[in-house]
Amino acid sequence: MSLALDAVSMRYGKDRLVLDGVDFEVADGDSVAVMGPSGSGKTTLISILGLLIEPVSGRVLVDGEPAPKSEGGRHAVRSALFGWVLQTVNTFSRRTALDNVVVPMLAAGQDRRAAAARGEEALARVGLAKMMDEPVRHLSGGEVQRLCIARALAHRPRFLLADEPTGQLDHATSMEVLDVLSSLLAESESALVVVTHDPSVARVCRRTVQLVDAGVKEP
Ligand SMILES: Nc1ncnc2c1ncn2[C@@H]1O[C@H](COP(=O)(O)OP(=O)(O)OP(=O)(O)O)[C@@H](O)[C@H]1O
Ligand SMILES: [Mg+2]
Repeated sequence: MSLALDAVSMRYGKDRLVLDGVDFEVADGDSVAVMGPSGSGKTTLISILGLLIEPVSGRVLVDGEPAPKSEGGRHAVRSALFGWVLQTVNTFSRRTALDNVVVPMLAAGQDRRAAAARGEEALARVGLAKMMDEPVRHLSGGEVQRLCIARALAHRPRFLLADEPTGQLDHATSMEVLDVLSSLLAESESALVVVTHDPSVARVCRRTVQLVDAGVKEP
């Protein structure tokens, strides 16, 4: 599968042109770091890719087909294909790690037993098998971010979209999260797009693109 931007432009207000005719593509097994100065449009780019916002012009192509226009169609693509990991974690801190993975799956209509099995498997993949029944407030920052990765993975997304997943972590803790990301990348057919300021995050990715002057540069 592939996910692409075709001549995408984005403007906020009248004259704040953030993306100017951007082409970008990511396919199965690929991993791309999106770097660039603060305010250069990285969050905007990944939000357009993930069908959270619509560009003012250009197209998002999902496996070569233009993304649906209707909110229902976009929602269906989002829940079938995308998993998100964000800089600021939003977890239920009093509930267990496993609950945090399972509750969104139940909300998406999954059977409880299947959701629990997938949740346990996802937590084991990020090295949190032993922490499954601990409330999230007992987890370290790196463990919480690994939990968020597990929560995204439990849906078996084809595209893992991450916006500064290590942005609030210190160096050692970022490395812990990176270890998880890179081993997942090695064994997975999904694609990863990760916005980051951290060169060590970029190093585990196959490609790096720079957002500069409203355009994407790939060295
Ligand atoms: N909803 C919005 N309305 C108006 N301006 C916006 C909106 N979202 C973003 N912008 C502006 O667009 C520009 C790009 O924002 P964006 O969040 O994409 O940057 P970024 O590269 O992710 O920055 P950072 O590294 O600080 O997270 C910024 O100047 C920002 O102020
Ligand atoms: Mg941002």
